[in-house]
Amino acid sequence: GVGEIAALALGYGLGSIPFGLLITRVAGTADLRSIGSGNIGATNVLRTGRKDLAALTLVLDALKGTAAVLLARWLFGDAAAVFAGVAAFLGHIYPVWLGFRGGKGVATYLGCLIGLWWPGALGFAAVWLGIAFATRFSSAAALVGSLAAPLLFVLTGQITDGAAFALMTLILWWKHRANLQRLMQGTESRIGAKA
Ligand code: G3P
Repeated sequence: GVGEIAALALGYGLGSIPFGLLITRVAGTADLRSIGSGNIGATNVLRTGRKDLAALTLVLDALKGTAAVLLARWLFGDAAAVFAGVAAFLGHIYPVWLGFRGGKGVATYLGCLIGLWWPGALGFAAVWLGIAFATRFSSAAALVGSLAAPLLFVLTGQITDGAAFALMTLILWWKHRANLQRLMQGTESRIGAKA
């Protein structure tokens, strides 16, 4: 209905705000596009050497997903919340403002989960942290962690949200295809390594 369509627009609008780019431009660090992976996410902001800006990027890229879900639920009802989450995720990855060349969606995926179903967020974060500490690969942590949420949704009988997050996980994997290749070739950079 109209509520779902409005939720898509709200989610996309919030999700497409490229906080990593905005923050690093204001701070005057190296250009994200020309260092490390070239990505606009927190992992690549860390490669500028600025932990504070990386943390801020992570929090704001997650919060825009949380805000989209909570605002949509409040304004348009329960059913609209997941639409806003998917749209925020897609807005982050395919922002019209950047010619649809956005980020890889990890922080925003987590933020949507926080707003939608905190046990799913906990599952994702726990796996992410476990793999990240074990391997120091942000990408590997995200790839494995993103399997947790769809699995938990489906195991608890939440088929619609499970399907939505399975779709988001597929897109997340697609956006990490260069990382996957580097992981398999042994050339992926570890968390905290400078660009
Ligand atoms: O959030 C993206 C992360 O999983 C990998 O980032 O910059 O290493 O491609 P990056």
